[in-house]
Amino acid sequence: MSARFVAAIDHGTTSTRCILLAPDGTPAAIAQREQTMYYPRPGWVELDMEQVWRRTQECIHEALNTAGATAADVAGIGIANERESVVLWDRHTGRPVARSITWQDTRTAGEVDALAADGGIHRFQRTTGLPISTYSSALKLRWLLDEEPSRRAAAERGDLLFGTPDTWLLWNLTGGPDGGVHATDPTNASRTLLMNLHTLEWDDDLLDVMAIPRALLPQIRSSSEVYGAAAGDLAGVPIAGILGDQPASLFGHTCFDRGDVKNTYGTGAFLLFTLGTEPRISEHGLITTVAWKLGDADAVYALEGSVAMAGALVQWLRDNLGLIDAAPEVETLARSVQDAGGVVFVPAFSGLFAPYWRDDARGVIVGLTRFANKGHIARAALEATAYQTYDLVEAMLADTGLQQLGELRADGGMTKNELLMQLQSDVLGSPVAAPSMAEITATGAAYAAGLATGFWAGLDELRANYTIARRWAPEMHADERTRRVADWRRGVDRTLGLAA
Ligand code: G3P
Repeated sequence: MSARFVAAIDHGTTSTRCILLAPDGTPAAIAQREQTMYYPRPGWVELDMEQVWRRTQECIHEALNTAGATAADVAGIGIANERESVVLWDRHTGRPVARSITWQDTRTAGEVDALAADGGIHRFQRTTGLPISTYSSALKLRWLLDEEPSRRAAAERGDLLFGTPDTWLLWNLTGGPDGGVHATDPTNASRTLLMNLHTLEWDDDLLDVMAIPRALLPQIRSSSEVYGAAAGDLAGVPIAGILGDQPASLFGHTCFDRGDVKNTYGTGAFLLFTLGTEPRISEHGLITTVAWKLGDADAVYALEGSVAMAGALVQWLRDNLGLIDAAPEVETLARSVQDAGGVVFVPAFSGLFAPYWRDDARGVIVGLTRFANKGHIARAALEATAYQTYDLVEAMLADTGLQQLGELRADGGMTKNELLMQLQSDVLGSPVAAPSMAEITATGAAYAAGLATGFWAGLDELRANYTIARRWAPEMHADERTRRVADWRRGVDRTLGLAA
């Protein structure tokens, strides 16, 4: 019997999913588990990767049950994952030496300053596509190696392994200490500040500067090839796709051509613009990243604008302020007022990422009067996501010389928020479209695995699977847009002023 599905594991910051995808790109099963996030000190954000691995196995089990499927029904497995986060583990026991320091964690701000003191934050941009910031992996990894004196020696002896979450999952899926495959793909490696963007190899000079022993590092393979066979419930199924979750979403949206743009409204917001096979180094605060590399074909690159707080701000309104009981209620609360009433919320909780790159920035709410109520705060919180995206689009247009964004393809939990999506279209002055398939990140990872295993024949077949469910067209007058953007910028200036 030939396989009916491709499986995708989508490990995000707050939850992990397993999805079984049919040939037409529709999901036959979706299983999802939340994972615990730890905030042990201000600015620290950690995950327990043993828990993540347990949750992953539970999701695989549940998805197979839901679809009434066994390993024999599955042609391949693709992995999509939150990027930059660092896992360091013992290759003999399979146990992490500490919790994962995740991408939002700002504990390395001091090391960032020290490194940037000599040549500025853009000193490695030509080689890596990245500014020096607390966002990328290298300094987090160094922090873990230096935290405990014995770790560096163990790393140099080859007893410890490093990986971004894709590598951790691949290693465990392929047997862990019993022969686990230690590899990653260029979309993940390009976020570490250790990979040369042009050669797609670990860079000796960077390893030297960051004091990272080579023995720790996974092999960089392509994003779409057979890395090894799974053990467990999916025993024998080839793991054949790895994409960082944002490139996975770009791929799932079938943004295959230069100029295609998507934005994912998840924990953070991530806008990616497909460049093609020539990497272009941003002059306006964006990142250049690998979008995918399919087997032996040349890598395709993207410009990326990353925002640290989008959906996470709604969670904060729920968990830290108690303004709402459940995330979707934010829309009702925000609709209880006509506009934000002059309130501007700049959620620089993890500093400001693109295009500002200020680790020292911290969140502000400005424009408060006695008139302001919780509805205005909720509305300003939603607007923050739309304006942060606007800043990214402006930088992207400046970098590419384009006059206007065509259509923005959107995905992620916040696309269910009609108010936000309309506002996004208004602020950008461009249409925003959301696809019928909500799980577009998992779709991208499944596509990478399905192409490598012959489940799908090529990109045209994937394009044919893509349909739009919902479109928002701009309604706001240009003057109004200009006024609101100016208010937002004043808020950002306050944030940066506080940091200075
Ligand atoms: O760079 C971080 C990003 O990959 C995290 O994605 O889905 O957890 O918001 P997400």
